[in-house]
Amino acid sequence: MPCSKIIATEQQLEEIVSRLAGEISSDLLHPDHCLAIVALEGAQTFATDLLEKLDCSIETKYIKAASYRQTHSTGKVTIQKDNMLIQKICGRDILLIDDIYDTGLTLCELLKWIDSCQPKSIRTCVLLEKQIEHIQNIRIDYLGMKVEDNFVVGYGLDFDGQFRNLPYLGILSEEILSRYNVSDNF
Ligand code: XMP
Repeated sequence: MPCSKIIATEQQLEEIVSRLAGEISSDLLHPDHCLAIVALEGAQTFATDLLEKLDCSIETKYIKAASYRQTHSTGKVTIQKDNMLIQKICGRDILLIDDIYDTGLTLCELLKWIDSCQPKSIRTCVLLEKQIEHIQNIRIDYLGMKVEDNFVVGYGLDFDGQFRNLPYLGILSEEILSRYNVSDNF
C-alpha cells in the first residue's frame, strides 16, 4: 500500500461529498446564474462526484493551476488563463472547487484572477484544509475536512501524477518518499 495511514475511506468520502452537495444545493437560489470552476488537476475526482450529487444542474468549467513540485509548494502559482472563461465569469455567481487548502497560494491566485473577471459573487468549496499556518488566509465556504500536515494522496490528489486513482485518501508512506529522494519530514 502506498499510504502509511488512511485518513478517509471511500465511504467517508462519499458522506463528506453528500454533505457538501446538500449545503451547496440549499444555498443555490439561482442555479442558472452559477458557474462552477474546478481547479485542475487535483480537484477533478472530487468535483465530478460533488456536482453529480447537487440537486440542480450548474454550468461547469475547468481551470488549470500548478504550484507543487513533488511534495513542496514552489511558491509560484501558474494559472492557465482562458479568455473564453473571462466572459463566462463576468456577472455570475462563482463556485470555485479545489482539492486542498495548503499554503493557500493557489486558492489566493485563483480567487484574485476570478475577481478580476468581475463576477457577481464567489464561493469556495474545498475538500481538505491542512492544519498549518497558511501563507494566505482564505475564506472557505464549504469545507470537507481538516487534515494534519502530511502529504496526502488519493481521490484525485497525486504525487508526481501517481496515486490519483486510489479510492481513499491517505498519507503517502515514507518508503515511497525515500524512493523518490524527497528529503523532508513529510
Ligand atoms: P497550496 O499550497 O497552494 O496548494 O494551498 C494547492 C495545491 O497544491 C497541491 N497540494 C497537494 N497535493 N497532496 C497533494 O497531492 C498534498 O498534500 C498537497 N498539498 C498541496 C494541490 O494540487 C493543491 O491544489
